Amino acid sequence: MADPKENDVQDLKLVSARIAGLGTALPARVMTNKDFEQIIDTTDEWIVQRTGMRVRHYVGPDQGISEIAVEAGRRALADAGVAPEEVELLILATATPEQPIPSTASIIQPILGVKNAVCFDIAAACSGFIYALQIARQFIATGEVKTAMIIGAEALSRYSDFTDRATCVLFGDGAGAAVLQACEPGDGVLACAWHTDGNYSEIIQMPGGGSKYPPNVKEHIDARLPFIKMRGNEVFKLAVRAFNEVCQEVLDRAGVSIDAVDWFIPHQANQRIISAVGDRLGIPAEKVYVNLEKVGNTSSASIPLAMREAADSGALKRGDLVLMAAFGGGLTWAASLVRW
Ligand code: COA
Repeated sequence: MADPKENDVQDLKLVSARIAGLGTALPARVMTNKDFEQIIDTTDEWIVQRTGMRVRHYVGPDQGISEIAVEAGRRALADAGVAPEEVELLILATATPEQPIPSTASIIQPILGVKNAVCFDIAAACSGFIYALQIARQFIATGEVKTAMIIGAEALSRYSDFTDRATCVLFGDGAGAAVLQACEPGDGVLACAWHTDGNYSEIIQMPGGGSKYPPNVKEHIDARLPFIKMRGNEVFKLAVRAFNEVCQEVLDRAGVSIDAVDWFIPHQANQRIISAVGDRLGIPAEKVYVNLEKVGNTSSASIPLAMREAADSGALKRGDLVLMAAFGGGLTWAASLVRW
């Protein structure tokens, strides 16, 4: 008699997952390089030359991430033509949740009306959108879920240290959401790869605000613990290597060469990182989508923000092969190859 476990596996009808809808949202407040010139010792020229960034959006004084997450989620549902009740799984990736308890996914569930969804947050920093895609895709592939929503939403300005000029200029706020649905194998998400190396957990971190150094202790605030800290040079080198390796891995998994890729949409960390990765991969700059000059580094929201803009501008067309990749605190890094 056959091993029942073996039969179970053989009986699984694996399907793929496709991005059926994409929505984004940016908060209204704008922070330019000139604005930074007023508060730190910097220049527009330095920021543009070292990062490529010119403008970021910041949440307002009474805003967390829920408003922009909901706005992005509603737009993704409308784009997909999917009713909120159809969503069975909502994964929200963020480094800056609305509050520690409950999850931001739970907070926005009733507002979005996704009443049939299991909702939770994940923490994978800038790789959060691809991590969420990879998780949701597994549930869709096994048939457990037919429609899922993933959201990357951040209010990094809340934790930017405006006394640290090398770090505070980099980050912006925003949200991006995707509705994922089952599709035929060979369509939608063709391959994903994801990695973590906690040995480097200290090179991008926010030491305070959690259980070790809670935010309700004055000494922790005075020591500037609940602020983003980064060793920029180390991050830069590791990021270039990790981006390159994970992109190669995902191309190999899908059996596709870089020449077949129509668009490379990387996490918008820094223009110089993106250019170095593009060169290493051997993809022409015209196929690399960059919008960081308008939004900065929005962590888990950055890939959907770039992707939505690419589609709206007509650059990204249905059927295009898109390579997306991300790198961030953890360290985490991930890539995915998707038929748009
Ligand atoms: N304006 C003006 N000067 C600045 C500055 C600013 N905003 N920030 C740093 N500097 C100065 C430094 O103080 C230093 O001055 P010094 O030589 O007198 O000491 C000089 O610029 C060079 O600093 P350095 O840190 O070597 O610059 P850099 O070329 O590495 O650029 C980053 C700094 C942060 C832009 C760069 O390291 C980077 O992008 N790293 C990756 C960050 C990232 O993407 N993180 C997120 C990953 S998800």
